[in-house]
Amino acid sequence: MKRQDIRNVAIIAHVDHGKTTLVDQMLKQSGTFRSNEFVEERVMDSNDLERERGITILSKNTSVMYGDVKINIIDTPGHADFGGEVERIMKMVDGVLLLVDAKEGPMPQTRFVLQKALKEGLKPIVVVNKIDRTDARVEEVIDEVLDLFIALEADDDQLDFAAVYASAKDGLAKLNQEDEATDLRPLFEEILKQIPCPEGDSEAGLQLLISNIDYDKYIGRIGIGKIIRGTVKKNQMAVLASTKGQNLNVKISNLYSFQGLGRRDIEAATVGEIVAISGIADINIGDTICSVDDVEAVPFVKIDEPTISMNFLVNDSPFAGKEGSFVTSRHLKDRLDREMLSNVAMKLEEISSDCFKVMGRGELHLSILIETMRREGYEFAVSRPEVILKKTEDGLMEPFETLFVEVPEENVSAVIEKLGQRKAEMLDMAPTGTGIVKLQFRIPARGLIGYRSEFLTDTKGYGVFHHLFDGYDNYRGDIRVRARGSLVAFETGTAVAYGLYNAQERGIMFIGPGTEVYEGMVVGESARLEDIAVNVCKRKQLTNVRASGSDDALKLVPPRIFSLEQSLEFIADDELVEVTPKNIRIRKKILD
Ligand code: GTP
Repeated sequence: MKRQDIRNVAIIAHVDHGKTTLVDQMLKQSGTFRSNEFVEERVMDSNDLERERGITILSKNTSVMYGDVKINIIDTPGHADFGGEVERIMKMVDGVLLLVDAKEGPMPQTRFVLQKALKEGLKPIVVVNKIDRTDARVEEVIDEVLDLFIALEADDDQLDFAAVYASAKDGLAKLNQEDEATDLRPLFEEILKQIPCPEGDSEAGLQLLISNIDYDKYIGRIGIGKIIRGTVKKNQMAVLASTKGQNLNVKISNLYSFQGLGRRDIEAATVGEIVAISGIADINIGDTICSVDDVEAVPFVKIDEPTISMNFLVNDSPFAGKEGSFVTSRHLKDRLDREMLSNVAMKLEEISSDCFKVMGRGELHLSILIETMRREGYEFAVSRPEVILKKTEDGLMEPFETLFVEVPEENVSAVIEKLGQRKAEMLDMAPTGTGIVKLQFRIPARGLIGYRSEFLTDTKGYGVFHHLFDGYDNYRGDIRVRARGSLVAFETGTAVAYGLYNAQERGIMFIGPGTEVYEGMVVGESARLEDIAVNVCKRKQLTNVRASGSDDALKLVPPRIFSLEQSLEFIADDELVEVTPKNIRIRKKILD
């Protein structure tokens, strides 16, 4: 069955090229907004952070009607830290809209997403937007898009893309520059013509592949996906075939389709449609909802494992807790629990009642959550990002990533050198003939910590990289670490231990000599000062421990355990220092 009445498209755009404006206009012109509905100036990016940073973080579903045809538009994130999200979206749609600014042309950051679309065999419609700009250079931009397609190894059919010239701002589109245009109809028409309609057997057993998870505080967890075959009805019994190989009997108690920016209750939907279901608490990305008598899970793009963790700590400094802010451990825990419901590539572990380890796909993945939460009014401290190590019978293992890099030729040597220092091993290097060189590396995940900003500087913002989880391998790290902080000394009566204390992170890192004082602490591992102090005291049955450190450090030491003395043994050190056992010995000398 061909669903002539549906088109499923993903939208790919560089920041500020006008995606939100275009979708708004499509919604308006398709008559989705009724007069009593609330219309924001920009409606698509609902998340403040997205608005401010100008990046789309969550994929969103919107639908617009054009005549009798429903066009499902799926927003794509522009980068790849989010565990296979782009691939999953590409499997849900039958075509893509590539939106390009008529002045700026295609930007490097959209290459990755476009590449995934081309690989999936999707044919893009190129929408050159902002043609109303006086500095628009439409013809050149089309040539640049063509070059990009060639560089990304598009096939002949993909190279023969349709181009639409648009001004999202003025709400118009045309197929030829000299045409007169008054609305977006030419774009709608082109979508209907170029994007294949979804197809499948509507009579076959149901297969609804869950490709995304959303969360609503009233209805709970929501699974979103495309009906690969068959028909789904509200209140029917079904089997949830999970990625873990378990089959669960479930009832489809709520079924929705996307309408405009919202969800609408529906009674039934059939092959090709993108729907949402709620009421199944255990639903996960990758699950297939099947007919009871025909259970066959769809093979699925797996979600990458988290490789980097950061501790989120309750901020109990006397200065914490402005009015209206969330500071308690309950606040923090509830918020993080909620995040885990929809942020599928993230994991959470409760370390103590006021310390939570959040594990994600990379620094960017975690830093976006931190920023979002801070903006929502959560006050908390975070530790440095750390790589997630695994202990196996063979020893200590660390995660490795395959790193795909595309950089202008002139930056290749700088990038190779920096990655070399970060223990990356080059697997491939291929010029594309367009001034851009593609490189591939295998790198320990720890080597990527702090790399993004260095990379952007080295390539003046023109390079792009993304990484995919490769697997675990023997830990090859050494104990040389970089850290910023203040040197602190602990006396326990029998020994002195030194560490580097970071007031902002409230973590202490123990270095070299003295480590044995704190049994169980690994060099380079960071933990909360209090926790270490309490554990050490318990283990060693110490009652009178003297801590030396900065004012801030001392504030954190619970007075119930320590008799505090602020001593001159402390050396404040606010610059970035390389911490090695040798280094610390030198400092100890200063202390002596
Ligand atoms: P993010 O959601 O931030 O990634 O950006 P976006 O791609 O959604 O772009 P957005 O719609 O926010 O547009 C970015 C800026 O370009 C805004 O200031 C728009 O008003 C402007 N803009 C969008 N479309 C047009 C257009 O057709 N012509 C002109 N001149 N400006 C436009």
